[in-house]
Amino acid sequence: MDQISLDITNLFAPIVGPRAGLNEEEFKAMAEPSRQALAAVQERRERDLRWLALPQAEGVRDEILTYADSVKGQFDNVVILGIGGSGLGMRALQTALNGPYHDLEPQAGLPRLFVLDNVDPDLIGEFLETNDPARTLFNVISKSGGTAETMSQFLIFRQQLIEAVGAEEHARHVVVTTDAERGFLREIADREGYCAFTVPDGVGGRFSVLSPVGLLPAALVGIDIEGLLKGADHMDERCRGAEFMDNPALVCAAVQYLLQTNHDLPIAVTFSYSHRLRDLADWYAQLLAESIGKRQGRDGSTVHAGPTPVRAVGVTDQHSQVQLYMEGPFDKWFTFLAVEQSDHTVTIPEAYGDIPGVGYLGGRTLNELFAAERDGTRVALTDAGRPNMTVSFPRVDAHTIGQYLYMMELAVAVMGEHYGVDAFDQPGVEAGKVAAYALMGREGFAEEKTRIEAGMPTERRTL
Ligand code: PA5
Repeated sequence: MDQISLDITNLFAPIVGPRAGLNEEEFKAMAEPSRQALAAVQERRERDLRWLALPQAEGVRDEILTYADSVKGQFDNVVILGIGGSGLGMRALQTALNGPYHDLEPQAGLPRLFVLDNVDPDLIGEFLETNDPARTLFNVISKSGGTAETMSQFLIFRQQLIEAVGAEEHARHVVVTTDAERGFLREIADREGYCAFTVPDGVGGRFSVLSPVGLLPAALVGIDIEGLLKGADHMDERCRGAEFMDNPALVCAAVQYLLQTNHDLPIAVTFSYSHRLRDLADWYAQLLAESIGKRQGRDGSTVHAGPTPVRAVGVTDQHSQVQLYMEGPFDKWFTFLAVEQSDHTVTIPEAYGDIPGVGYLGGRTLNELFAAERDGTRVALTDAGRPNMTVSFPRVDAHTIGQYLYMMELAVAVMGEHYGVDAFDQPGVEAGKVAAYALMGREGFAEEKTRIEAGMPTERRTL
């Protein structure tokens, strides 16, 4: 069975030097706290952390596959209306598993995918002008069922649909994913007779990619959701009982924690040496930032915790970011995402043998060049004393992606224990949502509006 692996050699002081590198003692000392953290997380599996058991939710998988089959061939486009955890996971799945050019020429019967996770009027306005609603299925995704961005998009596209296909027919073009009972979106789905899928209790937005939030659109665009769940299940098995040293999720969590707290490296760079995995880094950035970035610890103390996630893509960012990574401040550590077996082999033609500076490339493959650039960058960063680890994917397929998603979700949950924060709330995001409701004049938020306006500077400094 193909499983993803971790190479942690370059995290340690004998390799990268004592300034930023881990020492064996502090690493080993994480074994017991990690065991306790894992037990604390797993103890909530059947209670409020139900996302842990999503890989085993076969009933939901079958429901999704049945729905996807029932609409096959009916739509040219699937549009996700959803933001944050309701959009990032699916975008990552699409880039990884359907590849960057899927939408240019989708396989027979499969729709294109658009993730509209913004309310920029140019983004939405242009889409309204170009997209044919009569050939489009809208998947409205919101766990809370009230997020202003998603609901405003829904109102806009609902109107466009009704104008295009009529009030009755429009319902066939909308499928909703939301809480089983709570929220306006559920109420609307019931009222309109929309087909609706459930985000189960105990599954927060950024931990929901393996629920209908990610699986439904994935199935609609032909992604192997069974493979994803099997991969996640494999990682669940691998991490549930394993000791610290053999447990990739526990090691990821401990490394992150140690490098920030003991070595003052607050910036975690996910450096994807795979174009297909680039959006996984985006998905992880939200998972890490929203889960660990907290003002308050669980004991009520003020902690202002949290690493800063950064995404980079190899080789592209070698010509953009690597200068800083090599020679800039000692405030970063790196996780390389590497793929052992690409789906394609591309040979560089032989030419200009008389110009050695170009001719040497002829007859070699892009696979060799890509690997050399990745390994070269890793060696250079290591030589420059920058701790790094590598997550290797034997190949990019549903099974390995499922493993990665589950591993990082579990790692972040365990990090919550190490950092002493609640990894599952997002008071900072809620505060922004409330402020937006108030400024948009939503009923019940008048007091907040007065408070915000009173706090606004009376004079602006502009130039
Ligand atoms: O992880 C989270 O909880 C958030 O990022 C949410 O996914 C995001 O705020 C959107 O919320 P909702 O799904 O309720 O519309």
